[in-house]
Amino acid sequence: MRALVVYESMFGNAQRVAQAIADGLSDARCMVEVDEVAEAPDHVADTVDLLVVGGPTHTFGLTRPATRASAAEASPDAVVSRGNGVREWLEELAASEGGTRAVAFATRAGRPRFLKYVGSVSKTIERRLAARGYQPLAHHESFFVGGQQGPLEEGEEARARAWGRTLGERLHELRG
Ligand SMILES: Cc1cc2nc3c(=O)[nH]c(=O)nc-3n(C[C@H](O)[C@H](O)[C@H](O)COP(=O)(O)O)c2cc1C
Repeated sequence: MRALVVYESMFGNAQRVAQAIADGLSDARCMVEVDEVAEAPDHVADTVDLLVVGGPTHTFGLTRPATRASAAEASPDAVVSRGNGVREWLEELAASEGGTRAVAFATRAGRPRFLKYVGSVSKTIERRLAARGYQPLAHHESFFVGGQQGPLEEGEEARARAWGRTLGERLHELRG
């Protein structure tokens, strides 16, 4: 089984989640490639069994040039993703003819508490993947950061790894 994990990240939190998901998929005997979104192919090869796509929630949605600029300004270090984001990548993504499996994730602020219940960008990504012919392997998932710039809340990296392992196991079951 082959998986491609595509992520966008400003302060490194979604990057850590992407890597943890990839580690979980590897635990479940999948071969995994992890690409920062600017490096990711617009056309996902037919040999890929699972596409995982995720990134940060900005203003209740996908990042935009203006929100990325404001994150870069706020960050004491260089941000991870300096080119286009997941929004632009999904616009260019070639349709999946064979209904490749896909799953979406996001990172979001866990505080104030109400933010946990509004503006799920992982759902937006899931819908856009479906519009491109990708079939969901599992429900989209959010991972929470403590403050605007992180770090991830305690246990979130482990939860991402466990989620990745579950995805890998489900993929094996589907393919028999
Ligand atoms: C401009 C901007 C807008 C944000 N808007 C939201 C928001 O609407 N909801 C939310 O939960 N988090 C919001 N956040 C927090 C981000 O989700 C958080 O910085 C991100 O998940 C961290 O992941 P990253 O380090 O990979 O970028 C925002 C952050 C920035 C910089």
